[in-house]
Amino acid sequence: MAKQHIFLIVLFSLATMAAKSNGATPIKEFLQNIDQVKSKVTELQLYVQDIFTSPTPSNLPVAFANSTSASPTLFGLVAVLDDPIRVEPKPDAMIVGQAQGFFAFSSLEDTSFHMTFDLVFTRGRYNGSTLNVMGHNAYMQPRRELSIVGGTGAFRLARGIIGVSTVSMNATTGDAFFQYNITILHY
Ligand SMILES: *[C@@H]1O[C@H](CO)[C@@H](O)[C@H](O)[C@H]1NC(C)=O
Ligand SMILES: *[C@@H]1O[C@H](CO)[C@@H](O)[C@H](O)[C@H]1NC(C)=O
Ligand SMILES: *[C@@H]1O[C@H](CO)[C@@H](O)[C@H](O)[C@H]1NC(C)=O
Ligand SMILES: *[C@@H]1O[C@H](CO)[C@@H](O)[C@H](O)[C@H]1NC(C)=O
Repeated sequence: MAKQHIFLIVLFSLATMAAKSNGATPIKEFLQNIDQVKSKVTELQLYVQDIFTSPTPSNLPVAFANSTSASPTLFGLVAVLDDPIRVEPKPDAMIVGQAQGFFAFSSLEDTSFHMTFDLVFTRGRYNGSTLNVMGHNAYMQPRRELSIVGGTGAFRLARGIIGVSTVSMNATTGDAFFQYNITILHY
């Protein structure tokens, strides 16, 4: 196993200096040299903002079954999200990307989702890179885990784990902030 290096990125803005990103290397060359490249671990702590209120809700229900409205767990509801990713759990904090994809209420027993979405970075060192995320989100649990199953750009061939917790939720509107403790194993 390659020795792994830990880079703790506390403030995204500190990481904006030019660094040769894997995204700049031709794909064929990147894959040919992969055995010689040591894998590394990058940790990011970011906040995903779910907005239900007008004028621009970022989390939209798009489909449901006839029986969904009678289900205590909203079983069958499918929603699409394009949530801002911020550096702090505040509505005016810097946006460094978007969480884009969809999820389905997939349990008859409890309120939990299957999620399939991307963290699309739009600022700083990882601008243009993505992380591809999926997994089981047991929404009522204080701590959840989602899997990083891939990535692009700086995160080519990424794997990893995201620890998710709810930081705040407006009981009236449902607007919420989620803390994402993101640990990425990549090259
Ligand atoms: C869903 O409800 C509509 C309106 O009541 C009904 O016409 C339709 O047959 C129902 N579909 C199913 C799959 O039960
Ligand atoms: C992110 O990258 C895009 C495409 O290269 C560029 O247009 C944009 O200005 C960059 N954003 C920031 C904040 O650097
Ligand atoms: C995320 O990291 C913080 C420490 O920065 C910790 O307090 C919290 O429990 C972690 N959350 C999860 C879900 O792992
Ligand atoms: C929740 O949202 C409502 C409607 O926008 C707002 O009036 C209220 O202040 C919010 N509550 C909190 C605790 O932010």
